Amino acid sequence: MRFHIHTYGCQMNVRDSEAVSAMLTAAGHVRAAGEEDADLVIVNSCTVRQKAEEKALGKCGNLCAAKGRPQIVGLMGCAVKRLGADIFKKLPKLDFAVGPRRFGLIPKIVADLQAQGYPTSRTGANRLELPDEDEIPEGLSAHADAPVDGGADAFKSYVTILLGCDNRCSYCIVPDVRGHEYSRPAREVIAEVAALAARGVKEVCLLGQSVLRYGVRNKAWFEEDPTLQYSESFPRLLAALNEIDGLERIRFTSAHPKGCTDELVRTFRECRKVCRHIHLPVQSGSDRILKEMGRHYTRAEYLAAVAKLRAFDPSFAVTTDVIVGYPGETEEDFEATRSLMEEAGFDNAFIFKYSPRPGTRAAALPDDVPTAEKERRDQVLLADQERRGVRRNQTLIGTVREVLVEGPSLRNRARWSGRETGNRIVVFEPSVPVAVGAIVPVRITEAHPQILVGELA
Ligand code: 5AD
Ligand code: SF4
Repeated sequence: MRFHIHTYGCQMNVRDSEAVSAMLTAAGHVRAAGEEDADLVIVNSCTVRQKAEEKALGKCGNLCAAKGRPQIVGLMGCAVKRLGADIFKKLPKLDFAVGPRRFGLIPKIVADLQAQGYPTSRTGANRLELPDEDEIPEGLSAHADAPVDGGADAFKSYVTILLGCDNRCSYCIVPDVRGHEYSRPAREVIAEVAALAARGVKEVCLLGQSVLRYGVRNKAWFEEDPTLQYSESFPRLLAALNEIDGLERIRFTSAHPKGCTDELVRTFRECRKVCRHIHLPVQSGSDRILKEMGRHYTRAEYLAAVAKLRAFDPSFAVTTDVIVGYPGETEEDFEATRSLMEEAGFDNAFIFKYSPRPGTRAAALPDDVPTAEKERRDQVLLADQERRGVRRNQTLIGTVREVLVEGPSLRNRARWSGRETGNRIVVFEPSVPVAVGAIVPVRITEAHPQILVGELA
């Protein structure tokens, strides 16, 4: 069949979609040019906020209702686990729904439906697969063995290292839908990254809801190795990956501020390939709210972590997530968030309006900040960040940054675009021919809120 996958949500979902795509290809199916051209369409859903869930389900609903609908419509991802069998009340014509840690079953489900001579009628088969909390998905590294299409995925790849989450922040539904933490064995991750590097991948981004907890719940490392220079599992993993030939860059996301240890900071200093960027969601700058959220750090501890990273490299990029309008968030709490963002000097920030998620601790509290006020707080923080982003970027003018070339810039095809170690986008004129995937030095000449402009040095 010709298949197409629509992906909503975070990088974990992007990675899961890639794995499904690789498995379907291995089973003899082919990627369609787009949804219109596909016999099988899968929507990979997110449920972190209500809006995110609505988008994915809306898309799925349209596909099911379309006149010339694809023969098979499936839903995967986080919303499936949240809704369970209720999904078919909302989407009666859906053929299958597969929760996050069971995506490896999709090729089999498709084969079963085909074997049944499906579609015999245009009503859905309603097959449901819900993973349990500790399930280890099949096909986690399917993508590593898959043929490369060219383009960005020829030199950059995601690698899942940690499944699930055991943090239980009050507002977050992720632990309910993605299950318990499970760290993939270091051996397996190293082999996957080495295979990617051998086929030309220059940059990997290690994925997990909270990657600094790598190896905490289940031992992921072989303790017997006497050559290890670090005692914590995640720094060990980074140090091992740093040795892989051909690999140039190692990124990771997301990091919980509690895990930002001295040893991690040392890893950034000692491992050349580990990029100088951390996505460190702070959520709030008010100690009272942080406590209510169950984040297990204070404003001062958070700022101390940022200071440690910037102490050895002032250009170290720190990006964050913030929630506005958490239950009971006062003007004073909000101003504390605002001032924390200023003190931390974030390079980029994603602001989210609080959205109650069923079953979470916070959902039991009144969602008492009016929508208009959430909107206002959102806009204030965005405007602050826009100014701060330019200011941060201005400090880089005149410096030379190593840029991994991604391809022609989307806005101006005559220019090229890539990223420097801090994950900042750098746009430049290709005065001499440059290749996608190459790392080139660029002298920064202009600073904008979201991009840097420069010339080949
Ligand atoms: N409402 C709003 N934002 C949320 N996030 C997680 N749960 C919620 C929620 N219920 C945000 C957090 C997290 C990011 C991925 O989504 O900021 O870091
Ligand atoms: Fe959305 Fe969270 Fe699932 Fe990612 S893990 S897709 S952000 S609900």
